[in-house]
Amino acid sequence: MTQHTPHPNTPKVEVRRLSKMFAEPGSAKHTVALSDVSLTIGPQEIVCLLGPSGCGKSTVLRVVAGFEQASAGSVLVDGKVVTGPGPDRGVVFQEQALFPWLSIYENIVYGPKIRNQPREAYEALADQFIGIVGLRGFEQHYPHELSGGMKQRVAIARVLMNTPEVLLMDEPFGALDAQTRSTMQEWLLALWQTSPRAALFITHDVDEAIFLGDRVYVMTSRPGSIKLERTVNLPRPRTLDMLTSPHFMELKREILGSIRVEAHAAAGLPIV
Ligand SMILES: Nc1ncnc2c1ncn2[C@@H]1O[C@H](COP(=O)(O)OP(=O)(O)O)[C@@H](O)[C@H]1O
Ligand SMILES: [Mg+2]
Repeated sequence: MTQHTPHPNTPKVEVRRLSKMFAEPGSAKHTVALSDVSLTIGPQEIVCLLGPSGCGKSTVLRVVAGFEQASAGSVLVDGKVVTGPGPDRGVVFQEQALFPWLSIYENIVYGPKIRNQPREAYEALADQFIGIVGLRGFEQHYPHELSGGMKQRVAIARVLMNTPEVLLMDEPFGALDAQTRSTMQEWLLALWQTSPRAALFITHDVDEAIFLGDRVYVMTSRPGSIKLERTVNLPRPRTLDMLTSPHFMELKREILGSIRVEAHAAAGLPIV
């Protein structure tokens, strides 16, 4: 059998005219969460999705992950329609459920272990990740002994142990304080640089989106659709001084303006 090799210009992920409706319990009505959302993610691209609370960002990610079905439209990975979750896609959430009864090491190797991989197969990679997440010496500690930032690093390492081709992150730094968040952004980029892959990063923080992303999409308020797409023309590796570069400031001004209109609409407030 010949292997399925996608065309070099095929995006790794393609969201094609995706709509999503949720049934309202006890009524015949539906909530239209997403309406005609289209976006692409290249094989080594970080794409950030911005939008006001409730606009459907998480719903997009959940359909790409295969946790939710599309009501209309589709999601393709390597040109093949997504019908459910798969090991090609790894998901990181805002508040990560590390297993509190497992040590940091056991949390990190959880994926290969439940797949019954022999210890030799994952030991070296796990050791490398312990170093990358900055938790050497903490291997035998338990999640409650770690800070929020440390826990999110463990969570990301745990997902990467499964070597997903696509990384899906839903506001992974949303619960962290501003300083930790900034450190985590730099850390994530350094990690990504060691093994670039397709990534969808959801955030409501404009600075975070521009600093991390190759491209940024802005969504309208519910029903969510894509309102703006911008390419971030900043070289990699990204450095903190880029946060004040003219291109960064210009993009930020435009995107903030675009989101402000939607956030006011979502809150039912007039623009003043
Ligand atoms: N499982 C669900 N059942 C019913 N409604 C849902 C469900 N998930 C999300 N929604 C609704 O869809 C809309 C978009 O939600 P969500 O994707 O979580 O937005 P965001 O992540 O941008 O804050 C919201 O109005 C939300 O209440
Ligand atoms: Mg969300």
